[in-house]
Amino acid sequence: MTRCRICDGQVRKFFDFGRQPLSDDFRAEEDVAGAFYFQLAVGVCASCSMVQLLEEVPRERMFNYDYPYHSSGSQRMREHFAQTARDLLATELTGPDPFCVEIGSNDGVMLGVVKDAGVRHLGVEPSGGVAELARKDGVRVRTDFFEQSTAAQIAAEEGRADVIYAANTICHIPYLDSVFRGVDALLSPGGVFVFEDPYLGDIVERHTFDQIYDEHFYLFTATSVREVARRFGFDLVDVRRLPVHGGEVRYTIARAGARTPSPAVEKLIAEESERRLHDLDVLEGLGTGIDRICEDLVKLLRDLRDQGARVAGYGATAKSATVLNYAGIGPELLPCVYDTTPAKIGRLMPGSHIPIRSAAEFGRPYPDYAVLFAWNHTDEILARETGFTEQGGRWIVYVPSVRVL
Ligand code: SAM
Ligand code: TMP
Ligand code: ZN
Repeated sequence: MTRCRICDGQVRKFFDFGRQPLSDDFRAEEDVAGAFYFQLAVGVCASCSMVQLLEEVPRERMFNYDYPYHSSGSQRMREHFAQTARDLLATELTGPDPFCVEIGSNDGVMLGVVKDAGVRHLGVEPSGGVAELARKDGVRVRTDFFEQSTAAQIAAEEGRADVIYAANTICHIPYLDSVFRGVDALLSPGGVFVFEDPYLGDIVERHTFDQIYDEHFYLFTATSVREVARRFGFDLVDVRRLPVHGGEVRYTIARAGARTPSPAVEKLIAEESERRLHDLDVLEGLGTGIDRICEDLVKLLRDLRDQGARVAGYGATAKSATVLNYAGIGPELLPCVYDTTPAKIGRLMPGSHIPIRSAAEFGRPYPDYAVLFAWNHTDEILARETGFTEQGGRWIVYVPSVRVL
């Protein structure tokens, strides 16, 4: 039996993907033998309702100098983070000498805007390569994991923060107890801890099961976030659904009693309860969808291969590791995947060992079909790759079901 990482309650498994590689472990051909594998299974806590992975991957294996993901790689996400920074500057960072800390600041896509506004800031980012990119843009970054001791040091050296912000990072951190104690040490009395992560409600509704991978240790809901916040002396005071990355929720947390919660919190929690989002049978329903999608995708790729069609993948996403490895798709069905990220080009997809080519080569020549693994960037990619469809190319998507566009 697995114990809950938050409350020590019983975690009930609802899906098991088997042995999986690390989703961002893009290796050169000569290095694939040393790849790390772990059991990717997901369950829900019967006591506090937190949805979580059953096995924890050591953090240094995932987040180190070579972490390949660059937040600035998408135009839409650059706009999203610029808007987020402007909103925080206008609402929370308005005092005489405001201070903004970002957990998981990556290449500085959000903090760069805070810096340009002349506001005191600090990123906490363990992955040295992306931290260096942010520093090149003049963003202050501490190369470190955020946890209680880091937060206490920052508070001692630089004072309390008015905003602690994180995007697509808090769900990556199994030790939330240490994170909340750190927030307690670092946040000013009236400050806010704001974080946004993929929303379980959207994952279940749209069958976006590929959001389940090593780095996404938690799949949050308003219910489970309010519960964990309470345990550490905080209130969930606002929630806002975001359309990015296939559906996320931005949670705003304040010290207990410091702010009146917005009605949106109760509303979303009531909706989650009505949908029975934490019930085992509902979550097991997601599993049925996963198996159907993977079977349909493999069948389509086999049929296309048998017809002699040329098929490629688009977007060497972390998400795609779950699809490719669980469905058992390798280079024989999908000879290559195109991507724009320099650190991924020329490497192999984790586990499936499909070669990654530069997106600049997508049209030399275009394949007949392209599986859109970066479905969360559909609009941006379809707008960029109009040449593909103009000469007859067809996109294949697999969530919420397998379809040829
Ligand atoms: N915030 C960016 C965004 O939304 O695009 C980056 C998200 S990226 C998926 C997750 C980031 O969190 C990585 O840059 C990783 O190095 C960082 N990270 C992981 N664990 C962390 C921790 N304990 N403290 C701070 N950052 C962490
Ligand atoms: P993400 O889904 O985790 O944001 O990763 C998106 C991946 O897709 C990343 O490796 C960059 C790649 N990508 C492209 O190749 N072309 C594009 O136009 C966009 C937006 C992303
Ligand atoms: Zn629990």
